[in-house]
Amino acid sequence: EVNRKVDSLLVLMTLEEKIGQTVLYTTEYDVTGPVVDKNYLNYLRDGRLGAMFNATGSAFTRKLQKIAVEETRLGIPLLFGYDVIHGYKTIFPIPMGEASSWDLELVEKSARVSAIEASAEGLHWTFAPMVDVARDPRWGRIAEGAGEDTYLCTKISEARVRGFQGEDLSSDNTILACAKHYAAYGAAQAGRDYHTVDISENTLRNVYLPPFEALTKQGVATFMTSFNEVNGVPATGNKYLLKDILREEWNFDGFVVTDYTSINEMVNHGYAEDLKHAGELAFNSGVDMDMQGGVYLNEMAKSINEGKISEEQLDESVRSILKLKFKLGLFDDPYKYCHEDTEKEIVLSQKNLDIAREVAQRSIVLLQNKKGTLPLKSDSKIALIGPLADDQYHIVGNWIARGDRNGSAVSVREALVARNSKFDYEKGCEISGDNLTGLNNAIKIANASDVVVMVMGESERMSGEAASRTNIKLPTVQQDLIREIRKTGKPLVIVLMNGRPLDLRFESEQADAIVEAWFPGTSGGHAITDVLFGDYNPSGKLTVTFPMTIGQIPIFYNMKNTGRPADIEGANERYTSKYIDAPNKPMYPFGYGLSYTTFDYGEVNLDNNTLTENTIIMASIEITNTGKFDGEEIVQLYIKDMVGSITRPVKELKGFQKIFLKKGESKTLTFEISAEDLKFYKNGAGYINEEGDYRLFIAGSSDHEFTNSFSFKSSQI
Ligand code: IFM
Repeated sequence: EVNRKVDSLLVLMTLEEKIGQTVLYTTEYDVTGPVVDKNYLNYLRDGRLGAMFNATGSAFTRKLQKIAVEETRLGIPLLFGYDVIHGYKTIFPIPMGEASSWDLELVEKSARVSAIEASAEGLHWTFAPMVDVARDPRWGRIAEGAGEDTYLCTKISEARVRGFQGEDLSSDNTILACAKHYAAYGAAQAGRDYHTVDISENTLRNVYLPPFEALTKQGVATFMTSFNEVNGVPATGNKYLLKDILREEWNFDGFVVTDYTSINEMVNHGYAEDLKHAGELAFNSGVDMDMQGGVYLNEMAKSINEGKISEEQLDESVRSILKLKFKLGLFDDPYKYCHEDTEKEIVLSQKNLDIAREVAQRSIVLLQNKKGTLPLKSDSKIALIGPLADDQYHIVGNWIARGDRNGSAVSVREALVARNSKFDYEKGCEISGDNLTGLNNAIKIANASDVVVMVMGESERMSGEAASRTNIKLPTVQQDLIREIRKTGKPLVIVLMNGRPLDLRFESEQADAIVEAWFPGTSGGHAITDVLFGDYNPSGKLTVTFPMTIGQIPIFYNMKNTGRPADIEGANERYTSKYIDAPNKPMYPFGYGLSYTTFDYGEVNLDNNTLTENTIIMASIEITNTGKFDGEEIVQLYIKDMVGSITRPVKELKGFQKIFLKKGESKTLTFEISAEDLKFYKNGAGYINEEGDYRLFIAGSSDHEFTNSFSFKSSQI
């Protein structure tokens, strides 16, 4: 039915109108890239613009939609896209923080709330989720993803797409999702944004592509190309990625949009002679829509006339775009997402704020808790110190859609006031700079307190797009403040807000407790104090390794072994794979996070020691809450392929379950292991299972010894 409608519209369209559907422009109200062409209203009126971004609010989108519907020849409605990354007005923790909850239902719920709020204000399409696996904390956009592990990133990305797109795209509160940035954007050399990616086929297929493939299976509506090149070919002109893999192998049937001016940037890459050539390379590689580059708008007709681009291929792209406009119901009612009458009730509602608080609580990772410093006693006298302690601006993090930095978010200080806590406050210093203006008063209030809580971290601008750092420590001025406060001898809790793993060697020596709160969003202050006082027992686990020092990067839990591993007997010898000035081990490993309670892991029992293609192994384990608090635990299963026809990682996450246990309670969990879990990509052979021995363990962190073995035998033999 939709196909029929699309075809009957297509025959009415002129070449210029068809090209128009492949053109996406921003308004001037948000600038998310270098060039803004303010002529978008003229293009819109001429029927040469099919989609817009950075236009929000029912009134504004209605106004623009009215031009498309009433003033253009065919009245084809516009599609409105926007970066709804971690909330629309109700802001959730940054994606890396939210991922630390490992809570798929909650992740889906937050994406659902974001979709409900965004669609109430005229939006149809979010440029999310970012599903780039990222293993380099220097890269600022690590904040926007789900971390370093492919399996976890896949699960979280699927949950996000479920939340955005829901069951039915024609419902007026679901929006199109966009799997971005395709591909390998997170593998940029030296963690520098937009930088070169030179990667083996095996790593590309085993590490970076699986989340994208999984989203095609789940029906993600759109894909966005990445800025980087992959092995010498810019992703936006990469036929191998866009046609051979995405369309042919994975049968993707939505549309592909570029990132902002990334067609134009192929000239800078030295891959295209000029814009017209760049447009041909992009289009002929499978890019359907040009974001902000104006290349399709201005050059495509020439390319078609010269036979460099075929009109049939253009019809295919236009079909895939129109199909989604039909599916959203825009042809039945182009204004169906404009809810002027109800948008105020829908966005930033108390219900949404409560969900944001719940998500933020579960995102928090307790990194250190010496001598049971936390939870705080409700009658403790607190000295609240630090540049982020009374902050409503940075706490919501980077890229906050229509979120508010100046009033709606709850700071830690406000949350303490709300719970009638006894505290004194002193900012002490700014986030960076060298002025310790509040030092004397900070020392004074610390001396008068039972416990000091210092809220420290990065500014929101220090992570996110184009915010790579070569130094991942806290700014020196904050470390100076911590050093001076430590001298008071008071128990010291450091709460961190930041968008990347940091080098925390100094802080871990100074502090009794460290709470990683990321940028926790609109309800962040409440969530942090809920954790500090034990109203919520922290359960988050790291989705990305915290290095000991920046010199260890790249460092991630599922590396390869080398021929001379340093962690075996004889490791003190000179000729092993190690540093002479730092350990190989990170500061905090992937999967790590403490609780106020303790969990005892029983023995792992396998119901069978041999796996085949047609059978499964059930691995079961009893977990007991042996501490003094009720709590949640993220129980993780890791497997190692002992010998492969290509070398295999030292371990790989293959399953996890999040459980709640009352103090003293035990539960037996079962994980199913199938041949699918052992598959990997080998260049030349494709996705394969190999016979042989495997080891596994089930634990609360990736840093654990193997406890069990099993073997895989192909049933065909
Ligand atoms: O969606 C983003 C992308 O992630 C980075 N460049 C700009 C796009 C649109 O704002």
